[in-house]
Amino acid sequence: MKNLTICVGTSCHLKGSHHVIDRIEQLLQEHDMEEQVNITAAFCMGRCKGNIGAVIDGRDILDLTEESVETVFRREILDQ
Ligand code: FES
Repeated sequence: MKNLTICVGTSCHLKGSHHVIDRIEQLLQEHDMEEQVNITAAFCMGRCKGNIGAVIDGRDILDLTEESVETVFRREILDQ
C-alpha cells in the first residue's frame, strides 16, 4: 500500500488540487488499483510557491499540477 498525501491548502486548492485528487481516484479505479494507494488530504505543506504539494511514501513530488497528473500517476504509481 502506498501512501499519497496531497495538499488542499488555499494555494494548492487554487492550483486545482481537488481536481487532481478526483483524477487520481478515477485513474486508480480505471486500473483497478484502489486498494493499493491510500490518499490523504493535508493542509499547507509549506511549499505554496511550487506546484501542488504532494508526498508519496515520505518522498516529495515536485511536479504535480492539473496538467501533469497523468504523467505523475504513471511514474509514481503505475510503473512502480
Ligand atoms: S497550500 Fe499547499 S503547500 Fe501551502
